[in-house]
Amino acid sequence: MTSSIKSSVVLFVSLAILTLALSGSPGKSAEIKLSGFEKWRVHVVNGLGGGRSLFVHCKSKDDDLGTHDLATGAEVNWSFNTNYFGTTLFWCYLRTNIEHASFEVFWVEKEHHWLAERCTFRNCIWIAKDDGVYLTNNPQHLDERIHNWELGI
Ligand SMILES: *[C@@H]1O[C@H](CO)[C@@H](O)[C@H](O)[C@H]1NC(C)=O
Repeated sequence: MTSSIKSSVVLFVSLAILTLALSGSPGKSAEIKLSGFEKWRVHVVNGLGGGRSLFVHCKSKDDDLGTHDLATGAEVNWSFNTNYFGTTLFWCYLRTNIEHASFEVFWVEKEHHWLAERCTFRNCIWIAKDDGVYLTNNPQHLDERIHNWELGI
């Protein structure tokens, strides 16, 4: 009797572990697959002072997003899905009347989520200011200076 209760318990625990293992793995792989197609939006904002306009030219390997002359406070933005291989990459060339900066505005992160942590609701907000280019850190409600301007255009 005791031994049959024991084996029932063993059977029950085994089934529970097996169920967990089986239900756990498909969920995980579905999550990994879905993350290959997340929808993101990148913004580039003219936060310059003195009524200066901002020239913006952004690209990926497959897309040229064209050139834009942004008035103070204006922005350019675009949305996209990350590709299955995790190689989605966008970069921009920014220019004011006296300086420029060229940098990556979106990339897929495999281990550290430095960018993703700042892009709340998958919106990455880059802001050109007088002393450099900032990325909005949404959870902390502050803009962080990430790139310096290089003199010359
Ligand atoms: C994207 O940019 C356009 C043009 O500046 C603006 O009107 C629109 O509100 C922006 N969209 C989002 C989702 O921020």
